Amino acid sequence: MQDVISQVIPHLSGYDEPTLDTAFSVLAEEVSASAAASAANDPEAFRLLWLGRKQGRLKSISETWLKDAPPEARKPLGMRFNQLKQQIEAVLDAPVAAKAAVVQGIDVSLPGTAHKPGIPHPLLTTLDAIVTVFHHLGYSTRLGPQVESDFYNFEALNFPPNHPARDTQDTLQIAGQESKPGRDRLLMRTHTSPVQIRTMVAEQPPLRIVIPGKVHRNDAADATHSPIFHQIEGLCVDTNITFSDLKGTLDHAMRALFGSSVKTRFFPSFFPFTEPSADVQISCIFCGGSGCRKCKHSGWIELLGCGMVDPAVFDAVTGERRKLGRDDGAYDPAKVSGFAFGMGVERFAMILHGVSDIGQFYSGDMRFLEQFS
Ligand code: DAH
Repeated sequence: MQDVISQVIPHLSGYDEPTLDTAFSVLAEEVSASAAASAANDPEAFRLLWLGRKQGRLKSISETWLKDAPPEARKPLGMRFNQLKQQIEAVLDAPVAAKAAVVQGIDVSLPGTAHKPGIPHPLLTTLDAIVTVFHHLGYSTRLGPQVESDFYNFEALNFPPNHPARDTQDTLQIAGQESKPGRDRLLMRTHTSPVQIRTMVAEQPPLRIVIPGKVHRNDAADATHSPIFHQIEGLCVDTNITFSDLKGTLDHAMRALFGSSVKTRFFPSFFPFTEPSADVQISCIFCGGSGCRKCKHSGWIELLGCGMVDPAVFDAVTGERRKLGRDDGAYDPAKVSGFAFGMGVERFAMILHGVSDIGQFYSGDMRFLEQFS
């Protein structure tokens, strides 16, 4: 059929408008018919048939018809050829719909386009696992700002101005704060501990809270340090809270996270806001305590800091509550006691998953991240 169409140049009996209209409506029908027959399967054949530069039907017809046309008929002829050309181009511009209609044109044996589902980042999974252990012990979650005042980040936590303990937590300071009193100057928080203070100022004891969040330090990035990382803080305040409550709580949490055979050990340490303070170590989960490269042949891995809330912290809280008219002595160290702890999420994730370079968590490298799917 295409061959027949392509070879025959219809006879034009005159150049008056009704004759032209009749001739062009016949051509328009031919375009539709050949579009249905071939445009979807083979758009290139359809294009060559009608628009081909050498043997295209449109070209042959227009040349033949224009050759004998009186001058006044050139314009009406040209307009109608343009319309016909637009009709042909419209068929070629709709290849997607045309192709979709040809079901037998889809090769169902080819592999499909795979869309990978997203997964939670391993740091988020680790953070979630730790927080969940404490939720099961009756703790609830509190959050605080990353841009913090000197008072909440340091002073209320018993780091006096110029105290050397501040050197271990150097951070970014917000610019243009010189006119403010020291305690109100803003900085990027170096730990989640300021949220202990914010919560105690706002709420009455008893408290059992965990505080996950992002923290900032002026630390050079290396295999175990990053200037931005994540911590989870814990705080428990009530009457008669003792160091054995702290030990029992953390011992349980470490077993829940690393397996029931893991042992904990409390090592004397120093933090300005706890007294006494301790570093918590767990028996090496890689060698079971016999000594290996991961635990530097000690059999123990240091994991977090903790201690009993220093009475100076309760006093700072009481001072702030008094300013707000909450002069109720709720945090009188003679009435309440508490413990606190703080841990690095990255450190937990590295140990849990055997990751040796902290930078991998932030690299966005899919080969690394896909291992957690
Ligand atoms: N804030 C400490 C740090 O970033 C971690 C810490 C240690 C938090 C002992 C505590 C704690 O609540 O009791 O180094």
